[in-house]
Amino acid sequence: MSRVRRTDAPRGALATDTYDGRRAVVTGGSHGIGLAIARLLVERGARVIVTGRSQPALDDARAALGDSALAVRGDVSTPADLDALADRVRTRFGGLDAVFVNAGTARAAPLETVTEQEYDEVNATNVRGAYFTVQKLLPLLGDGAGIVLTTSVAHLAGIRGTSVYSAGKAALRSMTRTFAAELADRGVRVNAVSPGPIATGTLETTMSAEAAAEFVAQRVAENPLQRLGTPREVALAAAFLAFDATYTTGAELTVDGGVSQL
Ligand SMILES: NC(=O)c1ccc[n+]([C@@H]2O[C@H](COP(=O)([O-])OP(=O)(O)OC[C@H]3O[C@@H](n4cnc5c(N)ncnc54)[C@H](OP(=O)(O)O)[C@@H]3O)[C@@H](O)[C@H]2O)c1
Repeated sequence: MSRVRRTDAPRGALATDTYDGRRAVVTGGSHGIGLAIARLLVERGARVIVTGRSQPALDDARAALGDSALAVRGDVSTPADLDALADRVRTRFGGLDAVFVNAGTARAAPLETVTEQEYDEVNATNVRGAYFTVQKLLPLLGDGAGIVLTTSVAHLAGIRGTSVYSAGKAALRSMTRTFAAELADRGVRVNAVSPGPIATGTLETTMSAEAAAEFVAQRVAENPLQRLGTPREVALAAAFLAFDATYTTGAELTVDGGVSQL
């Protein structure tokens, strides 16, 4: 692989509002932030493969996204599923311009009660799944492509009940730097988007309505912008990192209303 010369012009326009012809994978693209990323890319002319484990959710996503999208069922913690995803990408797209490593799961529990099984399950998706998603799709990435990992502002603070999740997101932050270093010679940029509290509707499925309402009220009260973020706001940052931020690699962009910064 030839080294990208320092004087080479960046691939594509510096600030583009069209992603015509670009090909992307969004893991965990059937819901929430991943679906918002896929929607934005399709709106801007890209072709997208979204993944997830639930077929009904994938069917809904495919219907919402239209013909520029393909939904591929798969679990990022299962190597055979990642191999199958790479095969589908090769067959349908021939290559990739961006990968959004977004699939993730969260389970709140204090240190005293986390089981080894829960620990392994969360890390299998959030950490091992992310690592091997990048490794398996790497041969398909063209020079100048962008990789965006979804981290979380949770890894910047000590938030009770998030020890497994937050440590996993810190690992992704670290991977972002190392992958960026290893792939710089190819001109492949690797960055992270770090959401704060985002209204995806997922919270309501993991706790009682009362507990969810209390949790949201606390997040809003402590946030400088006094609200939750939207999946669309994260998608705009992720797409920027993947396609427009042509002189940015190894970075993490927070989308959190300022809560981790102010
Ligand atoms: N929402 C927030 O406030 C927030 C804040 C910080 C960071 N994040 C991060 O943002 C990312 C997206 O979160 P979200 O809030 O949009 O979550 P979400 O609405 O629950 O969506 C998660 C997506 O990931 C998929 N997924 C989960 N486990 C998977 C696995 N093992 N293999 C393949 N797909 C899997 C889900 O589909 P299936 O369940 O059908 O597989 C779904 O498409 C995650 O990495 C999360 O940690 C979210």
